[in-house]
Order: sequence, then C-alpha cells, then structure tokens
Amino acid sequence: MVRHMAQSSAQAKTTNIPNDLEAFFMPFTANRAFKARPRMIARAKGMFYYTPENRQVLDAAAGLWCTNAGHNRDPIVEAIAAQAAQLDFAPTFQFGHPRAFELASRIAALAPGDLDHVFFANSGSEAADTALKIALAYWHAKGQAQRTRFIGRERAYHGVGFGGMAVGGLAANRKAFGVMLPGVDHLPHTYNRDHQAFSKGEPEWGAHLADELERLVALHGDTTIAAVIVEPMAGSTAVLPPPKGYLQRLRAICDKYGLLLIFDEVITAFGRLGHAFAAERYGVIPDMITFAKGVTSGSVPMGGVIVRKGIHDAFMNGPEHVIEFFHGYTYSAHPLACAAGLAALDLYRDEDLFARAKKLEPLWYDAAMTLKGNPRVLDVRCVGLTAGIDIASRPDAVGKRGYEALERGFHDEGIMFRIVGDSIAVTPPLIVSENQIGEIFEKVGKVIGQVA
Ligand SMILES: Cc1ncc(COP(=O)(O)O)c(C=O)c1O
Repeated sequence: MVRHMAQSSAQAKTTNIPNDLEAFFMPFTANRAFKARPRMIARAKGMFYYTPENRQVLDAAAGLWCTNAGHNRDPIVEAIAAQAAQLDFAPTFQFGHPRAFELASRIAALAPGDLDHVFFANSGSEAADTALKIALAYWHAKGQAQRTRFIGRERAYHGVGFGGMAVGGLAANRKAFGVMLPGVDHLPHTYNRDHQAFSKGEPEWGAHLADELERLVALHGDTTIAAVIVEPMAGSTAVLPPPKGYLQRLRAICDKYGLLLIFDEVITAFGRLGHAFAAERYGVIPDMITFAKGVTSGSVPMGGVIVRKGIHDAFMNGPEHVIEFFHGYTYSAHPLACAAGLAALDLYRDEDLFARAKKLEPLWYDAAMTLKGNPRVLDVRCVGLTAGIDIASRPDAVGKRGYEALERGFHDEGIMFRIVGDSIAVTPPLIVSENQIGEIFEKVGKVIGQVA
C-alpha cells in the first residue's frame, strides 16, 4: 500500500496531467473546445506560466488581471505558508484576528480622501454586491429607504452575482438570467471608434456622455436613486479608458443630486493604472471603492469595499450590542488572504511597483501602437499597463478569430492573453520588463497575422 502510494505520487509529480477532463464544468470557458485541445498550466514563476510539459508561456494577462506583483513571489508564498501553520481560520463574525485589522488599516491608508473603512469579501463579484447592499442600507439608516435604484453602465462588468449582473452591461452575461434586480438603469458606454480610435491613454472625446446621468435623474427622480456604479476603466469589455473629464463630471452630477458614486476598482486597484487606485489617477473621490484581484496579487481569493467615513458612521447607531450591518461572508478577511494581502502590499511598496507601471506607460503605449498598421486591427486602446486590441471579425463567425488567436498564442507563440469576442486584452504583471513589453506586442501582432 505504502509502495503504491509512493509510486502514484511520484507519477503525479512527473506527469501532473489529469487524465479526465470531463467532470470540471469550467467557468467562462468554451468547455468543448477547451477539452478538445486543453491549455493546461502546471506552475508559474515571475512573468511566466509553465505547461505540464514544462513549456514556458509569457503571462501577458497577469493571470486574470490579478497577479500584479508577478507569480509565486517568495515573500507572498512564505507569508501564506506561515499563516497556514499559525492560524488556518478564524471567524470574523463577532470575533477577529489581528491581520484582518492590520490589512484593513493598510488598505485604508492607501485609499484617497476619507475612504477609510474596509469591508472584506472574497471576490470581485461579492465586493460589487456588498457595495450595492451598503448603499441600500446606508440610505435606510439615513431615513431615505425609498432610494433603491441603481445606475450602471453599458458594457460594464461587476461580476456575476445578481446585483453585479443587474448593474453590469454585457449582454452575454445577462441575457440568460431573467429579470435580475428591478429598478436598474444604465448610462451609455463611453466608446466611439470614430472619435477615439488609436488614442493613447484617456481619449479626448466623450466627457459629455456623463451628462446622460442628468437624463436618468430626470426620468427616475433624484430621490429614488441609491447609487451610480462604474468601473473607472472598463476592463472586461477589452479596455475602455474613461474619456478625459468624464469621471469628474459624473462625480459633479452625483454631488448635485446627493447620489452615491461607487468605483468598481477590481481591476484598476493596486497599480494597474500606475496608482494604488484609479480614483487617485483621476483625482475623483468616490463614496465607495470595490477591490479584489491585486490585493493579494491573485494568490488567495479576496475582495472588499472601501467606504467613506460618513457612510460607515451612518451605520454606527442604535444599541451597541446589535449588529449594525447584516451582511458578511464566512471567509471575509480569511487569515490566509490577509497574510497574502499584507505581503503583497509590502512588495508593491518595497519594489515601488505602482510608480514602475506609471513610468512604463509611454513605452507601453508606443509598443501597443505598433499594431496600428495591421490591416486586421480596427482599434488599439491603452491606459496604464493595459491594452485592448479589436480585430476584424469573420463575417460568418463572430468570436472565432479571437478564439483562434488565444489558441495560437498559447500553443504556438508561448503567450497568454485574454480574449473578449474578437478583441484581445493584454495586462501583464507590473514587473514586466521593457524587453517583454516589446515581445508581447510582437507576439500579439504575429498571432493576429496568423488568424487573418
Ligand atoms: C470590474 C470588475 N468587477 C468585478 C469583477 C468580478 O470579480 P470576480 O471574478 O473576482 O468575482 C471583475 C472581474 O474581472 C471585474 O473586472
């Protein structure tokens, strides 16, 4: 028996390949196409993934926009291991553990203005739903319980919970799921290829689109709206940087009517746009910021909501023994996530990674724009260390060229990026070298040529 076990674990080590792909119903995946030709990842280090055959793949997606400090960084790995040995789990309902408070303080210190209280969740979806619930409960506590409407935006992604899905604006993510939350309306998205194509950074055109909020306020009445939620940069729809002045205008209209403004920074927080938060880049202070992904550099699931002092304080009334906000997750502020988060924040600080991303921006933009002459490339958008590249669809099969690009990139060119239909999104870890930036766009250009 012992010999058998030793043998099978040795086998597992050398092959590391599961022999049956059937049982795993994969998320956001073309299951049948994947299982016909899997893209399997066995390990990672720094800027690279490695397949079970030990083939190196350049990670131009930071996993899924999350490993901002690079993969398997020693300080994070060590912090997780030490935490697992010391305290595996502790409830944060009516109890606490020190690292939860320490991480909340560190995040609050990084956040701008009086965004100084942190509610922990485990994912971006939970963070988005939590923010919506905080908005509702806040107005309830303020005696304005009639404020129940939410305003989202077309082409937005706020995760897959019923709340986030309802305020989200991606048709494919909504159409199979019924009526979702009632009382939700949407701003128009901010993209217009005629006015914005091949802009470096925030496009000049489009700030006026924020004024659509005035129309929605007029339609629904200002006292019925609880909150407006937007991504400062819409990432999941293949990178839509905000037009210059747009977010400032949105903030001004929210102020005019007393609406809460939520920035969903699940992608943009922790350095993606060269700052701890996009709010800082744009000089706009929202009432809440959602975060996830980069907080632990993707190493352990964690998400959360940072709220302004006034919102937090509105909950702190009534008898002291009574719970102020009836919401939370068993794994809110899980010890492993807190340890990983503290180690990730240390790395970001010690290696000055947010400033590094900012410094690389001009080079990144120039490298991205080398794709401009490619006849199949309809647009390139970039902001911070992100780029979205639209490639022409096959008239008879929308999304096929994108999928082929993904396959070719992974199998033939040794690069991983995201696809959204026929668009490619590249968003590397913030430790990406200047040479690797060149390599990323060279490989992407090559792949686009191959699928033409
Ligand atoms: C802006 C935004 N909000 C929410 C989410 C959902 O995060 P999760 O997949 O961790 O639930 C994402 C994921 O990409 C996102 O980009």
